[in-house]
Amino acid sequence: MSKQATLNIGDKEYTLKILTGSEDEHALDISILRKESNFITYDDGYGNTGSCESDITFIDGDKGVLRYRGFDIAELAEKSNFLETCFLLFNGELPNSSELDNFKTKVFSHSTLPSPVEKVIHSMSGNSHPMGVLSSALQALGGCFPHLCTNTRPADIDSFQEAASLIVASIPSIAASTYRSSKGENMPEIGNVFSYCENFLHLMFGSASAEPIDSSISKALDLIFLLHADHEQNCSTSTCRMIASGGANAFASLSGAVSALWGPLHGGANMAVIRMLNEIHSAGDDGSQFIQSAKEGKSRLMGFGHRVYRNYDPRAKILKSACDQALEALGVESPILDIARNLETSALQDEYFIARKLYPNVDFYSGIILQAMGFPTNMFTVLFALGRAPGWLAHWKEIATNGKRIHRPRQIYQGSTHRPYVGLGDR
Ligand code: SDX
Repeated sequence: MSKQATLNIGDKEYTLKILTGSEDEHALDISILRKESNFITYDDGYGNTGSCESDITFIDGDKGVLRYRGFDIAELAEKSNFLETCFLLFNGELPNSSELDNFKTKVFSHSTLPSPVEKVIHSMSGNSHPMGVLSSALQALGGCFPHLCTNTRPADIDSFQEAASLIVASIPSIAASTYRSSKGENMPEIGNVFSYCENFLHLMFGSASAEPIDSSISKALDLIFLLHADHEQNCSTSTCRMIASGGANAFASLSGAVSALWGPLHGGANMAVIRMLNEIHSAGDDGSQFIQSAKEGKSRLMGFGHRVYRNYDPRAKILKSACDQALEALGVESPILDIARNLETSALQDEYFIARKLYPNVDFYSGIILQAMGFPTNMFTVLFALGRAPGWLAHWKEIATNGKRIHRPRQIYQGSTHRPYVGLGDR
C-alpha cells in the first residue's frame, strides 16, 4: 500500500499521508486538509472517520472478529474472567498470579460506598432511572476522593490504578444500592466473602445470611460483563474520550459515558429488546408480524444491526449458548426466548435483513439471561455499564497518556446568513 494519496480539488492537488494499522487497516490522514485547502470533510455519524489511534480493542466487522489487546473474545470468554480482563484492558497484558491477587485485593478493599454516594443514590432512586443515578453517583464518588480527580496530569494518570479499582468495585454497589433503595430496602452487610459477581448477586438479591449462589449463575454474569468490557470507539467510549480530551478526570469522563450509553440505540437496546419481545408475546405474535413491521420501517428489530458488524456479533454467538445454559441452570422456561429464536431464524433468512447485513448484536440475548436471573429491566443498561467500565477506563488512560489535542470537530453551517437586529416593536 502506498504511503500517500493525492486529492484533487479544482486545479489544486493535495498530498495526504496514508496511515496503516497493525491489522492492516488504512486511513487517509487529513490533518493538513483545512490549513492547505480550506476544505473540511463531512461524515454524518462518523461512519468513515477515525478519531484516534488505539492499542486497546480491534474489531473486524466483516469477519465478526473482536479482540481485547490482541486476545480473541471467544478465547477470553472460555478461559478468562471479568476481573482478569479489567487488568488486561488497563495494562495491556494478562496479569500473573501475584498481579491478579493484588488487583483483586485493591478492588475488594473498596467494598463499602462512602455515605455521600449513598445519600445521592437514596435522594434519586425514588423517581430517577438507574442510569441517571449511576451517572450522578460516579460524580459523587469522585468527590469523595478529590486526590483522584485533580483534573491535572500527570497526577490523575499516576493515580489511575487506584481510581480504576475504586470504580470497578463501586459500580456493583451503586447498582445494588439503587435497586434496594427503590424497594425501600437496605443492602445486606456481607463483606467480600465471595467472588466479584457472587458478592454483587448477594448485594442485589441476597439476605444477611449469605447462602452460596449457584456458581453457574455467577459465571454467566461474569461472562456477560467480560463480553461487554470494551468495543473500541462506540458512542459511549467516544464520549468518554471526548470528555477526557479536555483534561477531565476519569469519574467525570465515565459519568458522561454512562449518559451516552443510556440511549435506546446504544446500551439501552438491551432494555428495548425485552420490551419488544414482551410486546410480541402479549400480542400473541410468534414474531412474524413484527418482522413484517420492521421491514416496513414501522419498527426496529431491537438487538439487531450494528454500525461496525456486518456479520454476526461474536458476543451474540457466545451469549446465545450461554442463554440456554443459564436458563437450564435456573430452571426457567422463557417464552420470550422462543420468540427471540423465531425472530433470529426469520430475520437471518429474510432479504430485507440480509441485504442490510443486519445480524443479532450483543443486546439480543443478554436481556433474556438478565431477566431470568431476576434483574429488573430498568437495571439492564446499568449492568451493561458495569461491564463496559473497564473499557471506558482503559480509553480514558490511553487518551490521558497519549492524547495530543482537545477534541473539537468542525461543521458545515446551514443557518441564516448575516441579518440586522429587528426591534421588538417591528417583529
Ligand atoms: C450497541 O458501536 C458499538 O460498538 C455499540 C455496541 C457496543 O458494544 O458498544 O456494540 C453496543 O450499541 C449495539 C447496538 C444496539 N442497538 C440496537 O440493537 C438498536 C437496533 N439497531 C439499530 O437501531 C441500528 O442497527 C444501529 C443503531 C445499531 C446501527 O445503526 P446504523 O449503522 O446507523 O444503521 P442505519 O440506522 O443507517 O440502518 C441502515 C439500514 C436502514 O434501512 P434503509 O434506510 O437502508 O432502508 O438498516 C435498517 C435501517 O432502517 N436497520 C434496521 C435495523 N437496524 C438498521 N431495520 C430494522 N431493524 C433494525 N434493528
